[in-house]
Amino acid sequence: MSSSAGLSSSSLSSSSTFTSSKFKSQFPSVSRRYSLLTVESRARPFTACSSTTHNTSGKIHHCSLSRRRGLAFTATLPFLLPLHEFIDDVSAKAVESGQSEYLRIKEEIRKVVTKGKAAGVLRLVFHDAGTFEMDENSGGMNGSIICELERPENAGLNKSLKVLEKAKKEVDAIQSVSWADMIAVGGAEAVSVCGGPKIHVALGRLDSAEPDPEGKLPQESLDASGLKQCFQRKGFSTQELVALSGAHTLGSKGFGSPVAFDNSYFKILLEKPWKSSAGMSSMIGLPSDHAIVEDDECLRWITKYADNQNMFFEDFKNAYIKLVNSGARWKIK
Ligand code: HEM
Repeated sequence: MSSSAGLSSSSLSSSSTFTSSKFKSQFPSVSRRYSLLTVESRARPFTACSSTTHNTSGKIHHCSLSRRRGLAFTATLPFLLPLHEFIDDVSAKAVESGQSEYLRIKEEIRKVVTKGKAAGVLRLVFHDAGTFEMDENSGGMNGSIICELERPENAGLNKSLKVLEKAKKEVDAIQSVSWADMIAVGGAEAVSVCGGPKIHVALGRLDSAEPDPEGKLPQESLDASGLKQCFQRKGFSTQELVALSGAHTLGSKGFGSPVAFDNSYFKILLEKPWKSSAGMSSMIGLPSDHAIVEDDECLRWITKYADNQNMFFEDFKNAYIKLVNSGARWKIK
């Protein structure tokens, strides 16, 4: 891990160790997330049998139901209850436990990700997930950013990781969470705290123990066709490239308020202020922002998003969820 991160190795160790047999591939479908929940919840009748309960006298005693009886109970339950009720019941319990984990993470993140810190935290997401390459099946949303902070493209991101580290420590004290999940939820909350769409992401990403291959993030000097090709290699369409670039509405590149997540990025792109010689206008936007507005296909989406903020929010939300699932390997619960 990079020393510049200033992050303790203990904060990484619990979540970054995994075996390759636990790997699952990219972009989990809704049904896969459902099946994870179901697998987790099926284990519950066994664990309940070894739990500690209170009797009427207030004394604590261990539940006497044996594991074997527990097994028989579990095997019989679906026949006693209509099957759909059994499945509904265990699924509801699993969803409940997943929800409380999500709420805990969100609550700790909300304490540290203020509007002023939001841009940096959102940028972290792209720099962790944006290394994904479909053909090579490498990189992606795996927390490896914490060992890539020395790379020039990641300059300054150690500060944003420090912000999240505080929240991670609090969450880890109760149940360990991966860096990849922290960053995924962190970016979603950063968007929301600045007035953008509410985004709910799945949990359960594993961290990588090693850095991703270098040179996979797009260079800011790429033209529109280079940007499109780069995003295509990561599984993203032109529309998704444009929607995700809307993240540049946050930060200090001159697209309206630096702490408001809205569609001013697209409105200002259409005005092309960098072509004006007046004042600081030429400083607005990055070369990649200037490039997409010169491309007809990108321009169609830029115009739609400038006209319709709700459409931008919806498309950004969907592309963001895809981004934070890119190349992710998932915990088997
Ligand atoms: C399209 C390709 C992209 C390129 C070439 C690019 C490049 C850059 C660069 C050079 C900066 C300025 C960093 C600085 O001020 O030192 C920046 C800022 C930023 N980028 Fe991107 N980026 C791209 C896409 C994205 C995506 C997809 C996201 C997130 C979904 C994102 C989020 C951000 C944010 C929030 C900032 C502002 C950071 C701050 O002010 O602290 N970028 N980007």
